[in-house]
Amino acid sequence: MNVLIADKFEEEGIAALREAGCAVTIRTGLKDAALADAVRESECEVLIVRSTKVGKEVLAASSALSLIIRAGSGVDTIDVESATTRGIRVCNCPGMNSVAVAELTIGLMIALDRRIVDETDDLRRGVWNKKEYSKARGLKGRTLGIVGMGRIGYEVARRAAAFEMRLIYSDVIARPDLEAELGIRRVELPDLLREADFVTLHVPGGSDTTHLIGAEQLALMKPTAFLLNCARGGIVDEKALAVAIGRGALAGAALDVYEIEPGAADTEFKDPTPKVPRVYGTHHIGASTEQAQLAVAEEVVRIVTAYMTSGKYLNCVNPPKAAIVL
Ligand code: MLT
Repeated sequence: MNVLIADKFEEEGIAALREAGCAVTIRTGLKDAALADAVRESECEVLIVRSTKVGKEVLAASSALSLIIRAGSGVDTIDVESATTRGIRVCNCPGMNSVAVAELTIGLMIALDRRIVDETDDLRRGVWNKKEYSKARGLKGRTLGIVGMGRIGYEVARRAAAFEMRLIYSDVIARPDLEAELGIRRVELPDLLREADFVTLHVPGGSDTTHLIGAEQLALMKPTAFLLNCARGGIVDEKALAVAIGRGALAGAALDVYEIEPGAADTEFKDPTPKVPRVYGTHHIGASTEQAQLAVAEEVVRIVTAYMTSGKYLNCVNPPKAAIVL
């Protein structure tokens, strides 16, 4: 089976695919027409991507292409609707990087409370300001509002519970099992925004959640509260966020994802929001720990192997009718 890998992928995963009998081509740093050419030239049946966007041009490149695997959990970088129309299946690797994202979320929450980035900046400029940086409120007893109680939300909740935080969540699906396990309480989103000292977002991206947090929602937050987005750019209206922070409607924010986010082949970053004081930014690295990437690679290999040996699509987000396999 011909497999094209279009993004950075663990060596262990590449070796396992070759051992399983796949002819693996690696072409990273391509986009649009160049990626379409690579799909055509490699005659790949399976395309493995991470940050690289897969649009109509790539989907139309070759009739051999039958499966796209996102080496991650979200599939918003792939035009799933067009893939479905063409009979191309899209599979993902849910849950494999949840702990990594949760760890970054907790790290950013502490960084915001203690203003670690500003402190580091000052020290690098030779400024000592113990008085200014001695005003952290601490996490114990503070309320963490988790928007989206899926796998990542759960891992965040478990860790925050260890910090003795008060936990609330909002989700379209009630999780009485987790409420019992973690002592977490389900509330409506507006109530969560009003009550929480930290609001962390863990919902999927896409049209349903675009600007879920905009001016109206930010206005509900406490002036001492912080917002964290390690989920997807676009869930937060960043212009509204900058305005809200500027007028003191909330204390700050940490973002790992952006409305204007570079693709895998780009190095220039154009989103202005991390330049706003009290906004801390990371480079969409929530999922990027060695452990998480190895787990994702193993899952990708499992998906390719199942497809190759039995024609089954594991974790398929657009399964052929009557063929749902987990
Ligand atoms: C995911 O969807 O799991 C992450 O965004 C993966 C990534 O960082 O590429």
